[in-house]
This record gives sequence, C-alpha cells and structure tokens, in this order.
Amino acid sequence: LFAQNCEFLWAADKSDGLPPMGPLEIAFAGRSNVGKSSLLNALTTRRTLARTSHTPGRTQNLNFFDLGPDAQNPLLRLVDMPGYGYAAVSKEKIANWTRLMKDFLRGRASLARVFVLIDGRHGVKDVDREMLTLLDQAALSYQIVLTKRDEVKKSAVETTLDEARAVLRKNPAAHPEVIFLSSHTGEGVSDLREAIVKLVSE
Ligand code: GTP
Ligand code: MG
Repeated sequence: LFAQNCEFLWAADKSDGLPPMGPLEIAFAGRSNVGKSSLLNALTTRRTLARTSHTPGRTQNLNFFDLGPDAQNPLLRLVDMPGYGYAAVSKEKIANWTRLMKDFLRGRASLARVFVLIDGRHGVKDVDREMLTLLDQAALSYQIVLTKRDEVKKSAVETTLDEARAVLRKNPAAHPEVIFLSSHTGEGVSDLREAIVKLVSE
C-alpha cells in the first residue's frame, strides 16, 4: 500500500471547504509539533510531501493526500490536521481550527480511524485527554501513537507505553494497541503501516 503514489489533493480551511468523500480516510491529530506532518512523510516515504517545521503551528489547514496507483483510483486518503494546544496564535485562529476539526471529525462517514499522536517525551497532556473525549463522543475509532521514540531513553519506553495504556482504560472506545515510533529513525513505523493496511483490507 505504502509503495503507491501519494499526492496532495486538497487543503481545507473551513468546514464547507472539505473535499467530497472518496476512499477510506485516516487522520493524524495531536498537539502542535508532535510530528504529525513528519509521520505522514515517513509513512509514504515522500520526505517533502507534508510541510514540517521546528516552529509549532506549521500546519494550518486540513490537508488531504491520496494514496493509490493514480489520481483516479485512490485506495486511501491521509488527512494531516492542524495541531491543537498551541497558545501563540490568535484566539480567532484557534477557534476557527477547533471548529474545523470538530466539524470534520463529527461528520465524516469515510473516516475510518483517527491516529492521535502524543509526544513520547512529554506523555499525555490535558489537551490530549480532551481530544480523546471528543473522539469518544463522536463515536470514532481512534488509536494512540507515541512519537519521537529516538528521543526517549530505552528504560523509559515501557513506562511511557504503560501510562498511555492507562489512559485508554478510561477511554474504552480507543483501539487498545499503543504504537511507539520515530519518524526520524523509522523505528515502529512498520507497526503503524500494518495497522493501516488492516483497516484498508477490512
Ligand atoms: P504542527 O503542524 O505545527 O501541528 O506540527 P506537526 O505535528 O505536524 O509536527 P512536524 O511534523 O512539523 O514536526 C515538528 C518537529 O518535530 C520538527 O522539528 C520535526 O523535525 C520534529 N520531529 C518530528 N518527528 C520526529 C521524530 O520522530 N524524532 C525527533 N527527534 N523529532 C521529530
Ligand atoms: Mg504539521
């Protein structure tokens, strides 16, 4: 699947600007700077497909990418979301992103799963819990992905995983398997690929 072509399809900055539903979709959500866009690039082996940045708040739209043999036959659509929990942009902008994200998450029949990215160095924050609750309320399938594994000491990996699994016990709608990966070294990325392939073939 991930050897297929992946092309940018669409950017939406408001709810009525979403692309028509097409193939099955998966979305990447998470706090600003957790590595959503980097993961999209790592997954597709297209290093520069989604724009990444050291500065939080890089991705400001819902960006849609289609994966498939050609543009007419997409097999899977990847959705890169703006980060949440970033205080240094205007209140108006935050309100706009939040509305866009909520509208998208609540009303998208083709959305098969939301991968909620959490920075492996920092663990689960209150804004993450709010996101998980929102996904629970929207009755969406979602799964936690811990990022930046290369920055986490080997001895801390299990503790971080346990902490994330403990959160899931309070959010029973979530997929029970937590993935811990690094987009920089590629470690763990195949676990996510497998989870996605499973979704597509279901
Ligand atoms: P927003 O679009 O602002 O919400 O950010 P994002 O979640 O898309 O993060 P992005 O992919 O732009 O990455 C943010 C920073 O984290 C960049 O400096 C990346 O190089 C870095 N980063 C991403 N993935 C990894 C990783 O696996 N390991 C390490 N060490 N750094 C990473
Ligand atoms: Mg981004």
